[in-house]
Amino acid sequence: MRAKIYKVQFIEAVQDIYDAMEAESFFHLILEEKHKMKRIDLALNPDFVFSEKEIQEWNLILEELKKEIPIQYILGTTEFFGLKFKVNENVLIPRPETEELVEWIIQDLKIQGFKDLKILDIGTGSGCIAISLAKNISNSKVYAIDVSPEALKIAKENAEMNQVEVVFLEKNILETNDLEMHFDIIVSNPPYVRNLEKQEIKKNVLDNEPHLALFVEDDDALIFYRKIAELATKNLNEDGRLYFEINQYLGEEMIELLHNKGFQDIELRKDIYENDRMTKAVLKNNH
Ligand SMILES: C[S@@+](CC[C@H](N)C(=O)[O-])C[C@H]1O[C@@H](n2cnc3c(N)ncnc32)[C@H](O)[C@@H]1O
Repeated sequence: MRAKIYKVQFIEAVQDIYDAMEAESFFHLILEEKHKMKRIDLALNPDFVFSEKEIQEWNLILEELKKEIPIQYILGTTEFFGLKFKVNENVLIPRPETEELVEWIIQDLKIQGFKDLKILDIGTGSGCIAISLAKNISNSKVYAIDVSPEALKIAKENAEMNQVEVVFLEKNILETNDLEMHFDIIVSNPPYVRNLEKQEIKKNVLDNEPHLALFVEDDDALIFYRKIAELATKNLNEDGRLYFEINQYLGEEMIELLHNKGFQDIELRKDIYENDRMTKAVLKNNH
């Protein structure tokens, strides 16, 4: 069957769940992943044909899409900060907001100058933050922690695929009292969604993405931030920076927390959707 004809059928088959634009973007993501063909390649080869076997494979993907499994898990890959990452159900699918956090760190370092930095990413998941930083900050030594051995397995594969060195450590950060090393930058996108916010979360996220990566108790939503900020006061070098991705509803509480822990030059930033989404804080006079 000609790919162009199949494309029309594909979009129709999922029209109850996805609008035509989204379905078309899925079609092209699959085409690129499975056939190494970009949108322009299909336009230039309008008679390109899928074999019977290929149609069967496409139909299997279609069935998974109908079950609302995220396309990234179906294909097993996604893109983050211009790099390719493997993903599976043990890791959160990297989000565009997190790219903005990485961008912030890199821009700050461009101003300040890169120099043999030690960087730690806490709750690394797919490794997206750690690996993007290692790729873009020359002479840095990057460490990354996660409690999930399954997530760390994927993160290690991603570091290898992107040809960077990251030291991965399996640790429960809530049970860690000292990081036993000093860092210039600590960054974290920890779990921050409260149970009371569950109704705002899309069904395909709730049903497929790891709850370990997403949720915290309503009565202690900042548990990870408090612990990480405490560790940072011990394990950041002088003028070291702590960057967080945060719950959009807890910006003010985050500023207060960082202030109370003795951080300075605290900044709260919005993401492209105009939600309070990230903080930066500096630890001065730390001896
Ligand atoms: C919101 S996800 C962030 C993943 C990735 N850094 C990203 O930005 O896409 C939070 C991560 O924290 C990890 N995590 C949850 N509890 C943890 C704990 N107690 N200690 C260390 N990591 C933990 C989860 O396994 C998950 O990978």
